[in-house]
Amino acid sequence: MQKKIPVIFDTDPGIDDSVALAMALFSEELDVKLITTVAGNVGIDNVTSNTLKLLEFFGRTTPVARGAASPLKRKLEDASWVHGSFGLGEYDFPEPRTQVIEKNAVEAIRDILKNSEEKISIIATGPLTNIAAFILTYPKLKNKIDKLIFMGGSLDGVGNKTPYAEFNIGVDPEAADIIFKSGLELVMCPMEMGHTAYFNKRDIARIKVTNYVGAMFEVLFRTYKDNHVKNGAATHDSCTASYLIEPKIFKTKRAYVTVEIIDTVKTGIVVCDFSKKSRDIYNMSVCTKINVVKFKKLFFTIMGNID
Ligand code: RIB
Ligand code: CA
Repeated sequence: MQKKIPVIFDTDPGIDDSVALAMALFSEELDVKLITTVAGNVGIDNVTSNTLKLLEFFGRTTPVARGAASPLKRKLEDASWVHGSFGLGEYDFPEPRTQVIEKNAVEAIRDILKNSEEKISIIATGPLTNIAAFILTYPKLKNKIDKLIFMGGSLDGVGNKTPYAEFNIGVDPEAADIIFKSGLELVMCPMEMGHTAYFNKRDIARIKVTNYVGAMFEVLFRTYKDNHVKNGAATHDSCTASYLIEPKIFKTKRAYVTVEIIDTVKTGIVVCDFSKKSRDIYNMSVCTKINVVKFKKLFFTIMGNID
């Protein structure tokens, strides 16, 4: 049995975050040590309550720490028009009985990293506010982070929050800028992956009858809007989680990636420079292609782990 990869999961559920969380929790490859919540798709109260609701629904007791209520330097602009007013579409989850742990996200991440003998990877499926705040507060603990896999940006400067900015980066470009310059081992899973490997109608019909979790996902997908995916459900966050579970599903390229933070029309635009002349300043690996068949096979295999 392969040793499990220890992971901190930072998230803003969010419909596609819910699928990613299930993949991480029910995979055989990952050991989710902590979940931290960040304001993004909806406000911090709702993303945190949604995380607790999802964990109870999944029958899991992973510790949850509440994170940032707003971006580092901007007002939150949420995506409730995509994920619904409280962030999980129209599924009627019971109110959570569990609570978050006492420590906030930054302190909880600190404790996990400080007390761990091994390096820990981070999967980030929302704005990068918590992770940026963590490395600003505890820079010496950066060396306990194995790699940070984040959903964000796009390969060609097209956005879904604005014509140029993908949502996670566009909500908190200052946090992204800090992460991009952090020296951490970074893997970026851009918007094109979730738009390519989206769940089509046939997939959703199959998901609906897999088990009780699939039946819930199908309800969430009914109201999940994405301008680039007309009939189906984008898989942005589950592609991101999949990278750590099975990296060979993706083709990646090294790049020098920057984010525009000056307040112009293009704030939050991510520019990927793959050119050889920038090889000495490449700061991350970027997922450029996804094997859709392998991704969906992995998803359904993990769904099969849920009884
Ligand atoms: O652009 C897609 C990203 O923004 C996903 O993480 C989705 O959940 C939203 O947070
Ligand atoms: Ca998300």
